[in-house]
Amino acid sequence: MYNTNLINYMNFQTLKVQLEEEGLLKVFINREDKLNALNAQTMIDIESAFQMVYDDPKVKGVIISGVGEKAFVAGADISEIGELNHMNARKFAESGQEIFMKIESCPKPVIAAINGYALGGGCELAMACHIRIASDNAKFGLPEVTLGIIPGYGGTQRLPVLVGKGKAFELIMSGSQIDAEEAWRIGLVNYVTTQEELMGKCENLMHKITKNAGLAIAQVIDCVNAAYTEDDGFQTEANSFGNCCKTDDFKEGTTAFLEKRKPEFQGA
Ligand code: COA
Repeated sequence: MYNTNLINYMNFQTLKVQLEEEGLLKVFINREDKLNALNAQTMIDIESAFQMVYDDPKVKGVIISGVGEKAFVAGADISEIGELNHMNARKFAESGQEIFMKIESCPKPVIAAINGYALGGGCELAMACHIRIASDNAKFGLPEVTLGIIPGYGGTQRLPVLVGKGKAFELIMSGSQIDAEEAWRIGLVNYVTTQEELMGKCENLMHKITKNAGLAIAQVIDCVNAAYTEDDGFQTEANSFGNCCKTDDFKEGTTAFLEKRKPEFQGA
């Protein structure tokens, strides 16, 4: 069921975006003929879509995937990368990092539904999401060194956090691809499903998350992210705990438990 108030969600050149029941926004990278490679326009569109996610209280959570059955995202668009020079390449990386940071810091849960190749910038996009679920045909890798470059959208930073330093060095320095089972084994994805079951699995998990207090979820995202920055994560956690206790949802959650009923969170 689409919400007609949100028709503008669909006006993206390179994304298919739809708002479904219970505030679930699905964002599909929509360049199937190029295996959903991220060109400059796609990055602009992703940034705009996430700005709407930040701003629109109707959106409770996001699932990102790729159109078609072959690719989530097969990397940054190599035809554009080939044009970079030492003057503009740094800016290219910084601006991509900033956009993916916006996903990682999004105050609403973001799940990557990885339905095929997640290479280079595609693997980096998936890693910027809070949770990754892959179908059994998915393939992961950071093949940038095979092109004479390195991952530039945060891959060298997020991969070691997810899989450990040794495995990250191996994958980035070899440029090798791994399959979905191996990605699960090393902790890069949370679950592996069939292609048919992928979206359902993501939706079920999203609904388990979004039925909880949204303000508390936003604080969780801040706190877990703080564990991987130079911020004092324990201080962030204590502040966030204090913030939760200021909300009506905290009163509702605790009262509902004591009254033996389901809480009805209002997001306030
Ligand atoms: N950038 C731009 N175009 C890409 C692309 C990318 N990262 N990945 C795939 N494409 C394009 C191909 O050029 C091809 O376009 P064409 O039909 O106009 O020639 C189309 O997508 C289909 O890809 P193709 O290579 O024919 O499919 P395949 O099934 O033989 O191989 C891959 C699939 C993913 C193994 C292969 O496309 C690949 O290695 N892509 C690049 C991966 C990469 O290095 N990513 C990191 C970039 S930093």
